Amino acid sequence: MKTEFYTVTDPVRDREILARAAEIIRQGGLVGFPTETVYGLGASALSADAAAKIYAAKGRPSDNPLIVHVAKPEEAEQIACVPPVFYKLAQKYMPGPLTVIMPKRSCIPDGVTGGLDTVAVRCPAHPVARALIAASGVPIAAPSANRSGCPSPTAAAHVLRDMDGRIEMILDGGPCEIGLESTVIRLTEDGCEILRPGAVTEWMLSQVCDVVTVAKAVIDPSLAGDKPLSPGMKYKHYAPAAEVVLVDADEAGFAAYVRDHCTTEEAVAVSDDKAVEFAPLRVLSCGMHDTAEEQSRTMFALLREADDRGCKKIYIHLPPAEGSYLALYNRLIRASGGKIVRIGKTH
Ligand code: TXA
Ligand code: MG
Repeated sequence: MKTEFYTVTDPVRDREILARAAEIIRQGGLVGFPTETVYGLGASALSADAAAKIYAAKGRPSDNPLIVHVAKPEEAEQIACVPPVFYKLAQKYMPGPLTVIMPKRSCIPDGVTGGLDTVAVRCPAHPVARALIAASGVPIAAPSANRSGCPSPTAAAHVLRDMDGRIEMILDGGPCEIGLESTVIRLTEDGCEILRPGAVTEWMLSQVCDVVTVAKAVIDPSLAGDKPLSPGMKYKHYAPAAEVVLVDADEAGFAAYVRDHCTTEEAVAVSDDKAVEFAPLRVLSCGMHDTAEEQSRTMFALLREADDRGCKKIYIHLPPAEGSYLALYNRLIRASGGKIVRIGKTH
């Protein structure tokens, strides 16, 4: 199949391209599209056949359910049994990087939810994503648009690399602003539980829910077990071909470890403002400054770049497992297969 590729900068000006993409979705085809978190691989959420094509294109196990995207929070009613707390969350954080798991309605086929009786609902903020859903007139099931096991795509070029010839169309809406996937929560009696951390943090959720907990597997993926709350928890995710070496140390300890170990075939990931300290080692940039937001935005592209440049190993300073760093921590321990080098600490 030939994959069509279009740049979409303005949903109004580019409405003919969006109309064509929407037609592909309605006909049961696949479209790669931008969201504020990562690029999604979209298909009609009302069609089991279309969902099956997503799994085939990604090479993804079919028990790992898909997130269903809607153009407006109230459209969640059409696909899920929506409790009042959803609207409280929606008022503060939607459209945005938050996915809520709720009991599903029968219009959503089992093939979309991996046989679960719940559905994960998200209303993305990216104008191109919202315009595509609205133009399609159907909710859009979309996982991240990477081949299963590869880092999620944060630019259209990543989608093209992974999906060229496997899907009908890719919409290029520029680089993703957030760079890590949405926060996934399930609702509990008195609040919610974070199954996958993202840019909507534990603290932000506690502004709406009385009790917010974090699933144990978020910090320690080995705890996901055989029947995890979220099937995606059990897979090794986001892994580049390069070995990711996570170093748990203070700044000086990290720099000393890297200088001792990093060879010319390997690289270190640091922000631009620290790069000079590591010369002449090979440096991959994780943003201008050392902030959670910049590292989150750049990390997946950095892991892909490590492979493009043939790095055998990449040394990364382990972020704290809390606050706005929790999502990054969670993705990095998965990328490293759970291995952490601890320095000067007795764990
Ligand atoms: O930011 C995002 O959420 C991106 C963009 C494209 O919207 N999408 C995304 O989808 O990351 P995906 O398929 O790569 O990850 C979906 C996660 C998986 O870990 C899956 O197991 C979980 O959500 N999930 C989906 N439906 C679920 C359900 N009904 N119950 C529990 N977990 C669910
Ligand atoms: Mg994914």
